[in-house]
Amino acid sequence: MKITFYGHASLGIEVGGKHIIVDPYISANPNAAHIDIDTLKADYILLTHAHGDHILDVEAIAKRTNAVIVSNAEIAGYYGAKGFQSHPMNHGGSWNFDFGKLKYVNAIHSSSFPDGSYGGNPGGFVIEGEHKNVYIAGDTALTMDMKFIPMRTKLDLAILPIGDNFTMDVEDAIIASDFLDCDKILGYHYDTFGYIEIDHEESIRKFFNKGKDLMLLEIGSSIEL
Ligand code: NI
Ligand code: MN
Repeated sequence: MKITFYGHASLGIEVGGKHIIVDPYISANPNAAHIDIDTLKADYILLTHAHGDHILDVEAIAKRTNAVIVSNAEIAGYYGAKGFQSHPMNHGGSWNFDFGKLKYVNAIHSSSFPDGSYGGNPGGFVIEGEHKNVYIAGDTALTMDMKFIPMRTKLDLAILPIGDNFTMDVEDAIIASDFLDCDKILGYHYDTFGYIEIDHEESIRKFFNKGKDLMLLEIGSSIEL
């Protein structure tokens, strides 16, 4: 499994020979100016919630690639009504896709579309594929529900928001990683706007002091699991 960071909460995942894009907010992110959305491959687009900083580039990518948009029922329905391919899920449910097994899990946040449409309730995803398991938290507060995830799935990586203000901060993300029983963390949802700027070295050190590895990727760079 290969995971590429496209800035903010945007990810590319290659698994089972398929290309997945998560929460594409790239074309308006000045930090991601070197990423051209017209070159991104996508068989699926996973959306954690409907906020503008997670869905901005969905339609452009889906129109070009014909990717299947996977999200909660309301978000899938919103795009389905516009003629896009979609797959509706809801909290606690899993589906065996051709890239692996995907579960939609709880997040504590909000989820309206920029145009005011109802975006259901926000979530995160657990992906099980190629004998590697990854949790993508989405925008969320620290929540006890995270303790359920390792009861079913031994995680190899947890992708957690760490920018504070709209989501968990670093300290809560460290507690989250305890709940998740996962010491390998990819941080996201930081630095994009003034509200969520973080000190990289201090954040990495705080995780390190708890015996955990926080990775902060350059935009456009990848890790292999
Ligand atoms: Ni949000
Ligand atoms: Mn967000």
